[in-house]
Amino acid sequence: LSNGLAETPQMGWNSWNFFACNINETVIKETADALVSTGLAELGYVYLNIDDCWSSKKRNSEGQLVPDPKAFPSGIKALADYVHTKGLKLGIYSDAGVFTCEVRPGSLYHENDDAELFASWGVDYLKYDNCFNLGIEPKERYPPMRNALNATGRTIFYSLCEWGVDNPALWADKVGNSWRTTDDINDSWASMTTIADLNDKWAAYAGPGGWNDPDMLEVGNGGMTFQEYRAHFSIWALMKAPLLVGCDVRNMTTETFELLTNKEVIAINQDPLGVQGRKVYVSGTDDCLQVWAGPLSEHRLVVALWNRCSKAATVTAAWEKLGLESSTSVSIRDLWQHKDVSGDAVSSFSARVDAHDCKMYTFTPQTVSRTVV
Ligand code: GLA
Repeated sequence: LSNGLAETPQMGWNSWNFFACNINETVIKETADALVSTGLAELGYVYLNIDDCWSSKKRNSEGQLVPDPKAFPSGIKALADYVHTKGLKLGIYSDAGVFTCEVRPGSLYHENDDAELFASWGVDYLKYDNCFNLGIEPKERYPPMRNALNATGRTIFYSLCEWGVDNPALWADKVGNSWRTTDDINDSWASMTTIADLNDKWAAYAGPGGWNDPDMLEVGNGGMTFQEYRAHFSIWALMKAPLLVGCDVRNMTTETFELLTNKEVIAINQDPLGVQGRKVYVSGTDDCLQVWAGPLSEHRLVVALWNRCSKAATVTAAWEKLGLESSTSVSIRDLWQHKDVSGDAVSSFSARVDAHDCKMYTFTPQTVSRTVV
């Protein structure tokens, strides 16, 4: 969507994966404080997004949405003001149906009123869900809210959450700044890997202004190992996915912090070229040894060696799979070790990778003869 936003994928935090409906203004304010004090905000995680359950079960007598008075007694405007004083942006959630998934009022046929209300509160981001949709196609239900947000005159990031229904990559770039390509993620290796593969199919359709959204990060929520979370974060960064943290940032372990704050990996996600990396080569049992790669600015490449097998293994990236001439000399930087790999490589590069772990590199070809992956 050409509204000036999403030149690179959005970064921030969302309440759903950890808190679900257990949200209130204290949690949101403490999260704002934590985003700043941990340094996450400075690294680019600036959208603080409230998900489902912020609203009362009924509209008021004027037909307006009302924040739940127990959870958000000071209202959303006060919260937006607070968040803005911290240099952050506030996101809110509604639904392109008659109810949200947790059965709060939806915005279908209330698009203009609700968009105006959100804008009057100082909201910067809307995640727009797909429950209770009366069986009407997403293609019809999502544009009215785009138009309504546009008409407010406030610049509001528009995140479509249609769960991949009707292949949004094929039509949503004119509607939203990102679109979900799949069902909801959960905090497991099986879910994360399945979603990565589904999202990969739509790589060609992502770019500045509109991104494929394989759902929010589960890093730090406890259901995966450190190696699995490292793979999750690496591949989401490489796929130019939104980096929306989904854990309790008030209580992160040092491991979680190390993953979410890797500047070199974040820079892959935020690279100005804005091309989604892809799975480029698989081998091994059930294709469990994988090379994912994509072009970056300044003629570089990002290359991830992802071992999805159950034992440590050597994973090899051959230049031919990356679109490089085999004689090309490449200097390589390891983005998790924060070190240059010694000596330029020619023809291929291999590394030992632990089970379910992912190594990630930038490749800088030393000669000019290369084609794009
Ligand atoms: C849907 C969305 C989730 C979350 C919940 C909230 O399942 O896909 O991301 O917003 O609704 O109810």
